[in-house]
Amino acid sequence: MSTAAIVPAAGGGVRLGAERPKALVPLAGEPLVVHALRALRASEVVDRVVVVGPPTALDELTEAMPSDWTGWASVVAGGAVRQASVAAGLETLSDEHELVLVHDAARALVPPAVVTRVVDALLAGAPAVIPVVPMNDTVKRVGDGRVIETVDRTSLYAVQTPQGFRRDVLTAAHASTTETAATDDAGLVERSGGVVCVVDGDAEAFKITRPLDLALAEAVLSSRRR
Ligand code: CTP
Ligand code: MG
Repeated sequence: MSTAAIVPAAGGGVRLGAERPKALVPLAGEPLVVHALRALRASEVVDRVVVVGPPTALDELTEAMPSDWTGWASVVAGGAVRQASVAAGLETLSDEHELVLVHDAARALVPPAVVTRVVDALLAGAPAVIPVVPMNDTVKRVGDGRVIETVDRTSLYAVQTPQGFRRDVLTAAHASTTETAATDDAGLVERSGGVVCVVDGDAEAFKITRPLDLALAEAVLSSRRR
């Protein structure tokens, strides 16, 4: 079965506070989005990638792609919110791809094994799959400046990407929603009554969100080089 990946990369990176779109922020000399695509490519289970970039940075993104990715990776314009960017990527996919991954450019260091686990679960019949990691911190519900309750964290997980879908499932979920600002594609599937399966994520698939995350990413890369 052919698998395509949509890589939402159109965010402005407000929390990172960089001067350029987050996907183009360099990590060890290469833009975050290039690291993210390298991981997808290394998994050897992704046949085609669509990077969904900021409309103002499409040329820069295209130029950042290594020349041997021509025909594998392409760049299209995204929307004002993540969900619109994913929808824009989905529209450009050719019919041949029966499985679709959605992977945040900001999760630049996802280990290829996570990508493979997601695709393997789809191939085993799951309609939608997300990688998850257990919560490390104690979690409390808070309101009006006070603790309301301590939440039992044994059944709570943090969700990563790539999230994987049978293409018809993802297309239907995007088409059926009236919501416009979902931060997670599997959430759309859940709300339309679909089943979402989980596989193990990985701490290294963390989302680069704030400046401290860039420092952590540099440390992860240098530990991989050792
Ligand atoms: N994204 C996107 N289109 C948008 C908003 C976000 O493609 N309109 C992408 C981002 O580029 C990122 C992923 O969705 O790869 C996760 O979003 P996030 O980490 O929130 O990135 P930003 O929106 O860029 O950051 P911030 O919220 O701090 O501005
Ligand atoms: Mg955002």
